[in-house]
Amino acid sequence: MQIDISKAVSFSSPEGMKQNEKELESLHKVLVDGTGKGNDFLGWMKLPAGADSAILRKIKVDAEKIRAQSQLFVVIGIGGSYLGARAVIDCLSHPFLPLLPGRKDPVILYAGENLSEDYHAGLMEILDQYDYSVAVISKSGTTTEPAIAFRIIKAHLEKKYGKEEAAGRIYAVTDMQRGALKKLAEEEKYPTYVIPDDVGGRYSVLTPVGLLPIAVAGLDIEKLIGGARSMMEQCLASADPEKNPAIRYAAIRNALYQSGKPVEILVNYLPNLYFFTEWWKQLYGESEGKENKGIFPAGVGFTTDLHSMGQYIQEGTRLMFETILSVENSGKELRVPFMEKDPDGLNFLAGKRLTGINHMAEMGTLLAHVDGGVPNIRISVTELTEEILGELIYFFEFSCALSGYLLGVNPFDQPGVEAYKKNMFALIGKPGFEEQGKKLRERLK
Ligand code: PA5
Repeated sequence: MQIDISKAVSFSSPEGMKQNEKELESLHKVLVDGTGKGNDFLGWMKLPAGADSAILRKIKVDAEKIRAQSQLFVVIGIGGSYLGARAVIDCLSHPFLPLLPGRKDPVILYAGENLSEDYHAGLMEILDQYDYSVAVISKSGTTTEPAIAFRIIKAHLEKKYGKEEAAGRIYAVTDMQRGALKKLAEEEKYPTYVIPDDVGGRYSVLTPVGLLPIAVAGLDIEKLIGGARSMMEQCLASADPEKNPAIRYAAIRNALYQSGKPVEILVNYLPNLYFFTEWWKQLYGESEGKENKGIFPAGVGFTTDLHSMGQYIQEGTRLMFETILSVENSGKELRVPFMEKDPDGLNFLAGKRLTGINHMAEMGTLLAHVDGGVPNIRISVTELTEEILGELIYFFEFSCALSGYLLGVNPFDQPGVEAYKKNMFALIGKPGFEEQGKKLRERLK
């Protein structure tokens, strides 16, 4: 991957950028030595090096079994427990997989990442029709949304296959010690994977949390880890911004923030990057947004969103910068056909590939937005493969940790998430929350 900041630096102060690079040099040491905030959650940093081949083998064996017996695979999880898997799977899968005749890969479906009754009832209608298996993924094992979805799906599976066969179709991915899910998995003898204690949810895609669903989708998890490993080596080896792209990215995005740009928009030009953007938003939003600080991470998919958000980005309040995630080549080839009489005037494009036209849209937009006062950082890769996604994942994680340190926050906790949970528990009548429930209901009158 390459990172180009030439269309962003002039919007920040050169002194600010220099100062950030200097501070990041010491923070790199703090991170690598494990002496900073949240240092009991640094397991992600060495995951690609320590990727235990016994676990990878077990994942591959289980994935083959699941693929053989399931047309659908339901991933139950929320936040860091599903976004990484979905990001990689969506990037590398056929965009219309469910409709592909003779497809070999199971379709991956998601549950417990929302509380919609229609969504889950609709999912049950589909699960009635197909053979399926399930991964229930929760580090804490107590998160309400996936716990409710799991109750519903477990009951459905047991009705459909009987308790014994159902137990062989449920894969639990959870913490070693804690939580109801671990206890249930032991009692019911579900095949189980452990999420390492020192890896937080949003940094867990390279553990079984992400690797099991990714392998079930038919993707090469060793290549994914391999890509992450090469970026890990680069990120750990040097704090020089010329050699370490994670330092470069952290330095410029924070310099822009300090120069009055509190919003970062991750821009893609491929719809299959939608969930990569969602993963990135969660990673940066939960890691940095605390103590009344942090860049607000947003996402757009161009050219689609040029017809919705484009106007605002070009001419609205000047509060944002863009980071483009640019992919040079596409896997498939499709050219614009020639049309008799040229009714739409587009015959000058006849024979041209869509990817080339998409790139010109990207370049034209980049220059227009820069002219409109929007700094642009450009991260480019040659194509989307498991290796390159592994590199990008590690790059963004490493840079996020450094950015959090530069901001002075703990990039590995998420204390703010508790506030909504407490209110929800109080309002749905969870034992122990009665008093708070009364007070909240008063306020809602
Ligand atoms: O990054 C995080 O830690 C969170 O987003 C969690 O992944 C999310 O809240 C789900 O938690 P759990 O896996 O414990 O169900």
